[in-house]
Amino acid sequence: MNGARFFRRVQDAPWYAHFLQPVLAALPAQPGAAVLDVGTGAGKLMELGQALPHLHWTGADTDAAMLAEARQRPLLHQTPLHQLTPGDPLPFPDAQFDAVTFCSVLFLLPDPTPLLAEAWRMLRPNGRLIALTPSGGAGTPDIMGTIGWHPSNWTFFLWRQMTAGNGRRWAQQKTLADFARQHGAAYEKKLVFHDLAVVEWVQRANT
Ligand SMILES: C[S@@+](CC[C@H](N)C(=O)[O-])C[C@H]1O[C@@H](n2cnc3c(N)ncnc32)[C@H](O)[C@@H]1O
Repeated sequence: MNGARFFRRVQDAPWYAHFLQPVLAALPAQPGAAVLDVGTGAGKLMELGQALPHLHWTGADTDAAMLAEARQRPLLHQTPLHQLTPGDPLPFPDAQFDAVTFCSVLFLLPDPTPLLAEAWRMLRPNGRLIALTPSGGAGTPDIMGTIGWHPSNWTFFLWRQMTAGNGRRWAQQKTLADFARQHGAAYEKKLVFHDLAVVEWVQRANT
């Protein structure tokens, strides 16, 4: 099994929907809102997002094999998926999206600032950046009650181990809080998923 196929299996384990849920809850409510999921991987957020029919999704990733996995999802057959070149400007006009999501992406990048600047350029007035990042914390004991004892949830324990270091580093760096301050934008963050992840929002002004 190649890496992208394995990652799709991770995304399809029951625990992963609980992990992504806070991002779905933070998406805009207005009908017709356009959402870009950057670093969509095998497309799980967008698949779950089909349950929110007021949204129009676009997915993007640098990895062709990941995008091929996303294309296999029947619910995404109509969803535009774009392959990106690392370091290049994103292939979208200014002010195109009401939300740009990054789930477990920014904390992997040595310097996420150019990608954040691109996301900011593509946001409409009142639009928001939403980032979900593993916290690297210990979590709360009731996590298993939420995710359940399913055979494919073993990947949850692997994920916790593999993301802890980068997650703690991301929490210390305060990259999105600094980005919001530099742009005079509102910023919020919240621990989610039994404190195992943090969701952050940077909200563009209504102008
Ligand atoms: C850990 S996976 C997360 C996938 C998905 N967002 C999720 O939550 O399951 C990180 C993804 O980010 C992608 N990625 C890494 N660098 C990127 C970049 N500069 N621009 C867009 N995607 C990137 C990788 O190819 C990979 O699919």
